[in-house]
Amino acid sequence: MKIAEKKKNVNNVTPHGGFLVNKELIGSEKEKKLKKMQSMQSIKLDKWAISDLELIAIGGFSPLTGFMKKADYESVLDRLRLSDGTLWSIPITLTVDKSVVDNLNIKEEIALNDHLGNTYGTMLVEEFYLWDKQIESQKVYGTNDINHPGVKKIYDKGEYCIAGPITLIQRPNHGEFKDFYKDPAETRKMFIENGWNTIVGFQTRNPVHRAHEYIQKSALEIVDGLLLNPLVGETKSDDISAEIRMESYEVILENYYPKNRTELVIYPAAMRYAGPREAILHAIVRKNYGCTHFIVGRDHAGVGDYYGTYDAQEIFNQFSKEEIGIEILKFEHAFYCEKCGNMGTAKTCPHDKESHVHLSGTKVREMLRNGEKPPKEFSRPEVAEVLIKGMQQS
Ligand code: ADX
Repeated sequence: MKIAEKKKNVNNVTPHGGFLVNKELIGSEKEKKLKKMQSMQSIKLDKWAISDLELIAIGGFSPLTGFMKKADYESVLDRLRLSDGTLWSIPITLTVDKSVVDNLNIKEEIALNDHLGNTYGTMLVEEFYLWDKQIESQKVYGTNDINHPGVKKIYDKGEYCIAGPITLIQRPNHGEFKDFYKDPAETRKMFIENGWNTIVGFQTRNPVHRAHEYIQKSALEIVDGLLLNPLVGETKSDDISAEIRMESYEVILENYYPKNRTELVIYPAAMRYAGPREAILHAIVRKNYGCTHFIVGRDHAGVGDYYGTYDAQEIFNQFSKEEIGIEILKFEHAFYCEKCGNMGTAKTCPHDKESHVHLSGTKVREMLRNGEKPPKEFSRPEVAEVLIKGMQQS
């Protein structure tokens, strides 16, 4: 029997904060705004800010309706909540140089463009404020070390935040990923059409490896469907490109996953590498996309040794299930065990460490850079081929 036949078709996952935000203008509203924009001054957004703009507008960052004002910003840093008390972990701010602020007036509506002059939306500037890079680095990333990619990004940004509600006029072009693009309203609809009541969301910024597959499939044993939701926005320069990663997801889904229980949809955000705080953001966003469950494995959204292996799991203990609103599935560090002849964790495998092949995206990247083919204990052969071909071409 198909899942669709035995389940009731509802997606009743309440978006974070209670409603799914939609700030995209279409039809006559868009035309009106475009006309008005002819007399607006514009500012340039980088790729990161454009992806934040898109995620606010399409509801991925619900309940945010604009870039954060100071009260929300400080509240997020200090107590992981918006000023109204809603759980939120990462500042979503639009930063600019002083020269930009000098030319702006409060209550002025401005156009948000990219460096080529393409217009993506507007913002009604309600506030601008100075921000403290050292404090944000320490609170969000737990470090001020400039070698941390998130911290480095902070120090590259302008010294002011400008804040206020936005509109989206034009979604960014997702190019070759456009077939894998869906907004939260669309994924919610898709889950209903698939007959899925329970959906596990999976965040990744790495090519899929056997540990990913193991934890995804363990989750699939208890839910109706998997939303494989790789982040394709800005990542640090030594991460494997989104193009190669997407190919690796396609090939593993094609060969090793049940088609009626998996969906591949891009998550167009920038990667912060903020470990525990980013795990919360990742979970909230997947709730907004309609997922009921979310996987947090070892060192989720981590980089280097900045976070403890399970910090990103433990941070959820501070909050009630109700306020998180999506069930967090926590997985221990998974490995391949030579003696078991399959994947496992310390919870399921009795053998000593010498029998364990530890897997990670970082390790796979190292091997590929050295021209080595990751063994079958690391990667499915089809995936290894995609990665090797991709690395040779890049
Ligand atoms: S992340 O930065 O997007 O978190 P990655 O793509 O490596 O990086 O991980 C995706 C998810 O898989 C995260 O939840 C992470 O914790 C989990 N994960 C990755 N490798 C392992 C592993 N060996 N064992 C358990 N969980 C893992």
